[in-house]
Order: sequence, then structure tokens, then C-alpha cells
Amino acid sequence: MKGLILAGGHGTRLRPLTFTGNKHMLPIANQPILFYGLKQFARAGIRDVAVILGPIHEEIRESVGDGSAFGLRVQYITQGEPKGLAHAVLCAREFLGEDSFVMYLGDNLLQEGVEQFLEIARTQRPDAVVGVTAVDRPSQFGIVEMAGGRIVSIEEKPATPKSRLALIGVYLFTPKIHEIIAHLAPSARGELEITEAIWKLVEGGGRVVPHPVTGWWKDTGRPEDLLEANELVLRTMPPDGFVRLGSVARGAAVTGPLGLGPGSVVEETVEITGPVVIGSGVRVGPGSRIGPGTAIGNGVTLLNAQVRRSIVMDGSQLEGPIRIANSLIGRNVRISSRHDGANELELTLGDSASLKL
Ligand code: DAU
Repeated sequence: MKGLILAGGHGTRLRPLTFTGNKHMLPIANQPILFYGLKQFARAGIRDVAVILGPIHEEIRESVGDGSAFGLRVQYITQGEPKGLAHAVLCAREFLGEDSFVMYLGDNLLQEGVEQFLEIARTQRPDAVVGVTAVDRPSQFGIVEMAGGRIVSIEEKPATPKSRLALIGVYLFTPKIHEIIAHLAPSARGELEITEAIWKLVEGGGRVVPHPVTGWWKDTGRPEDLLEANELVLRTMPPDGFVRLGSVARGAAVTGPLGLGPGSVVEETVEITGPVVIGSGVRVGPGSRIGPGTAIGNGVTLLNAQVRRSIVMDGSQLEGPIRIANSLIGRNVRISSRHDGANELELTLGDSASLKL
């Protein structure tokens, strides 16, 4: 069994923001989104993994390297222009050989991992397993229609969805899929669609097992998805995920789980209510309060700043009095405030933004 993780596409876009790095490297609970998929492959015993890369990829290569830090053997395949999910499989044809493989869209987060997919493949020997779950905005996903326990239609982002059951972006395929992809034509939006390949597999008599995933699943296409994923990961993180290496002053009050990186200091009068993770080299200065569901990156400075259910990325500085919630703050953002901080603000700021309030 091999693993294919897709981190191509228009690498920097997170509607409506543009970040300087690749969007698959945006942090969820202080870890790049992409790492979650890689770790799940490792946990399921999949060793050989290819990462599909788009035009902006240096950051990914540098941080994932040969994959040994994850217990994986990682190689990279450059797709270049994002011509569709099935096109990515086509690019990986040589790597995949005649093995079955799990394909994981790199901007997805799936709590339960991929073991269940492997278990279904082992016990039921289907031609494909597709993860599905009910969604609220079905016209934005690949939608599966079921009747009498069978798949009767699959459509990519239908204008009038026939069900709410969405493909979640984790699939297990046998090599049978390659023959179908080889004969696919680009869709109306100009992409080779994996959704269409799966439908052709069903039409041709192939056995495709829909696997309703348990636990949470998040597609991180929008800033609010990132915040929700961040909170979900923090709230479901096992206690050993919170390691306290930095220092907490006696006069600070910490309740709930707190992860604190090396060289970080939580100073007098600070109040922290976990689950919260804070990276390395962070200063949480007097008057600051950090509330549940918050992740603070490396090298951040918070002075008299109240932050809850937010992501503050590396190198940013918040000098209050200021109160923010449900906010996504990019890297190296500067915020200073001369107001009284009475109003709680919801901010979505891309990298290097500067805000004087
Ligand atoms: O999130 C689940 C949905 O993912 C499914 O329900 C859809 O059926 C499936 O098509 C996909 O839709 P998205 O609109 O979310 O796909 P997106 O273009 O955002 O790409 C998903 C991931 O794959 C993302 O991490 C970028 C990567 N990608 C995308 C394309 C088009 C590539 O690596 N190469 C590509 O050519």
C-alpha cells in the first residue's frame, strides 16, 4: 500500500487571503496542515509516500525532507499546473506502479485517520473506498447519491445536489483506477476529475465502498475552517500533546491544558485557559489573557492582549490594550492599539499586515 498526498493546486490561496507560503503549511495547533495527513499515513503503517507539489513548494520540501522524521520514505512529484486531482494521480503513475494506494487531499483534516480505509480494503477487497460525510453546503463538494445501499450517482460540485453526502477527499484505490484516468477528458472547468473517474469505476461494474467517517473532518478552504479545525484539534488532543518547556511566572494563572515551547515566557498577571498551544520564543506579557482554542506560533509577542479561539502565526506582535476572538493572524503581523480594548475584534489578517488602532 502506498500513500499519495496532494499539496499542489494554487498553493498560496486561502480564500480570501493570500499568504506568502504554501497554504498546506498553514498551522493548525502549531503544526502545518500537511503534517496531519503524513502522520496518519505513518500511523496506518504506510511507508512509501509521494507528495504532489504545485508551483510554490520550497517550504514543503524543506520541512518534510525525506520523510524520516515521520517514519516515512517521502518523494516529491511536481505536478506544476493544477490540472485536477486525477491528473495528480496520472503524474504519480510511475511511483504508484501496481500497488493500491491511499490518496489524501493535503488541505483536509480527518480525526479518525486512514486505518479504517485499509481495513475495508483488506476485508472486503473492493476496487475503491471513498470517505464520505454529510455536509451543509453540498454544492461545494463531490456528492454521492445512494439508493438501496448502492451508489447511484456521483457528481462534482453539482448545482442541484442529489444528496448531502460529500466525498471528504480521502480515497483508497486499487490500480484499476489508472486505466480509467488514462481515458478521462477534462471537465467543464478544465480539470481531470477524480470524482468522474470514481463514477466511471462504478458504471463499469467496479465495487466502490463509501465509508462514512466518524469523528470530525475539516476541509480547510476558508479562514473560518482553519479556526474550527484548530479548535477541534486542540479540544481532542491527548494530554501528552501538551508539553510545557517554557516558563510560567508564579503570578500567572493557568487552567486547562497548555503546551508551551522552549524559551517562551508567560509573565506575571497573565491568565491562560486551555486548551492552548504556544510555540517557542514567545513572550506573553502582563495584562494578557489567552482563551481556549488558541494557537500562538513561534516568536510571537503579546502585551496586554486578550486572545481567544484564534490562530496567531510566527513572528507577530500584538500590543494592546486589545481583545481579539475568532481571528486568523498571519506571520509577522504588527498590531498596536491605543484604545481601551473594550470591544472584542474579529480579525483576518494575511502575512505582514500592519494595524494601528
Ligand atoms: O474537500 C473535499 C473535496 O475536495 C471533495 O468533495 C471534492 O470532490 C474534491 O474535488 C475536492 O474539492 P476541492 O474544491 O476542495 O479541491 P481543491 O481544488 O481545493 O484541491 C484539493 C487539494 O488537492 C488541495 O490540497 C490542492 C490539491 N490539488 C488540487 C488540484 C486541483 C493538487 O495537488 N493538484 C490539483 O491539480
